[in-house]
Amino acid sequence: MRLSVTSLAILGPFLVSAAPIRRAASATDLLVLNFASVLENLETQFYTQALQKFQESDFINAGFSSAAVAIEQIQSIMSDEAFHVQGIAEIIPALGGQVITGCNFDFSTALTDVPTMLGVARVVEMTGVSAYLGAASLVDDPQLLTTAASILTVEARHQTVLNILSGTGSAIPQALDIPLSPQQVLAIASPFISGCDVGVPANPTLQVTNTGTPTTGTTLTFSSNGIQGLDPSTLSCQMMVGGAPFAISLPYSQCVVPGGINGPVALYITNTTQPLANDLTVQFGGSVVAGPTFAFIDIDPQTLPALARNMNVTITDSSTISPDQASSIMASATITGSSGSPTGSVTDLPIAAPTGTDVIGSSTSTATDASGSPAPTAPANVAGGVVGGDLSDIQTPGGANNFTGNSGDGNLSVIGWSSVPLPTTTPSS
Ligand SMILES: *[C@@H]1O[C@H](CO)[C@@H](O)[C@H](O)[C@H]1NC(C)=O
Ligand SMILES: *[C@@H]1O[C@H](CO)[C@@H](O)[C@H](O)[C@H]1NC(C)=O
Ligand SMILES: *[C@@H]1O[C@H](CO)[C@@H](O)[C@H](O)[C@H]1NC(C)=O
Ligand SMILES: *[C@@H]1O[C@H](CO)[C@@H](O)[C@H](O)[C@H]1NC(C)=O
Repeated sequence: MRLSVTSLAILGPFLVSAAPIRRAASATDLLVLNFASVLENLETQFYTQALQKFQESDFINAGFSSAAVAIEQIQSIMSDEAFHVQGIAEIIPALGGQVITGCNFDFSTALTDVPTMLGVARVVEMTGVSAYLGAASLVDDPQLLTTAASILTVEARHQTVLNILSGTGSAIPQALDIPLSPQQVLAIASPFISGCDVGVPANPTLQVTNTGTPTTGTTLTFSSNGIQGLDPSTLSCQMMVGGAPFAISLPYSQCVVPGGINGPVALYITNTTQPLANDLTVQFGGSVVAGPTFAFIDIDPQTLPALARNMNVTITDSSTISPDQASSIMASATITGSSGSPTGSVTDLPIAAPTGTDVIGSSTSTATDASGSPAPTAPANVAGGVVGGDLSDIQTPGGANNFTGNSGDGNLSVIGWSSVPLPTTTPSS
């Protein structure tokens, strides 16, 4: 597991970025770093708690034929997030800042069952992507920007995997993403965080109150502390999708999902009708009274997400095996074929002769070369006793280098083989 290899050497990329300190980081850079640190902690905690809570059977009940499909990916994502936490925690003091401590993360509402957890994970990763994207216009130090960008690309991979695990959507629904400011990110993240000051005010959290999954034509309804007491007729619902320069601005009471939207949509409530720009440097974000929150509009169900649910897979490793394992396979190999000596020359083929086992041809009890002499015994350090030469010399039906079956001890399932050249070893004979 990748988590086990967190060491100073592995943290190299982070430390290199932080190393040439010519000046202390700007206050904004430290704020962004600390904000990122809290978000990465949140993500790590989320996946850690999810893996502790859910058993294989929970994934099967959620429709996965194989729980490993989801668990492997969640472990891998969690390990990345933990790595980010550690790296950022190294950078902050190196740049003269202090890491925010004391945050508690409560995911009890998100970890009720596997489908809810995966839905929230999808939002969490989308939020991570949008947070780093939004931070790009805030960061002063180009090295820090590069480090942040390098985290962002990985968060985007997580997002893709979670889209796939959702089972219903598109793996890569939009060609561009949506930047969010720290205040906007906290509208989504703050309900899970308590006990610490992140240093940034949070926009009021916005909840979509529709039951069921929103899709084209759904009239979205909302609740939020930010809109309590406001006249709904003065409010707009705004939907931001990746790649569009502006949000779609609709009257609050007619917030109907238009056709053509596929994938994540950031939803905002504003007190003007002026569309929000999809660019934080010119957004007119001061009109936002609640949100954003993310909804996923899955109108393009693809085969890959469906496959992730329905595939009953057994992972098979293709690996180089030890000489002992190879010997064991040799010992159990029985190549069936016509009686008699094999054709072709096998004098250059030292094959360990497993006494009592038909290896080449069914009429001999020991391996022989073309002249009928027993094949030389391979040196012990040679993989499987097969070294040098060319196994294709052996003309047996099925092919000597095409053995399929189990090793003698049953440990390995062998699907074909080929000899591995060992240039420094001269077979003893
Ligand atoms: C998946 O495959 C295993 C082993 O072949 C089998 O025992 C299990 O019932 C299968 N599960 C599903 C959901 O098809
Ligand atoms: C709109 O909302 C913002 C943010 O809450 C607020 O500062 C502003 O005064 C409001 N404008 C109007 C016209 O209500
Ligand atoms: C095969 O498995 C058995 C039992 O797990 C183990 O003792 C033995 O060392 C294994 N053999 C090889 C060649 O790995
Ligand atoms: C291996 O043997 C099987 C069964 O005899 C045959 O179908 C297959 O084509 C062979 N593969 C190679 C690579 O020779």
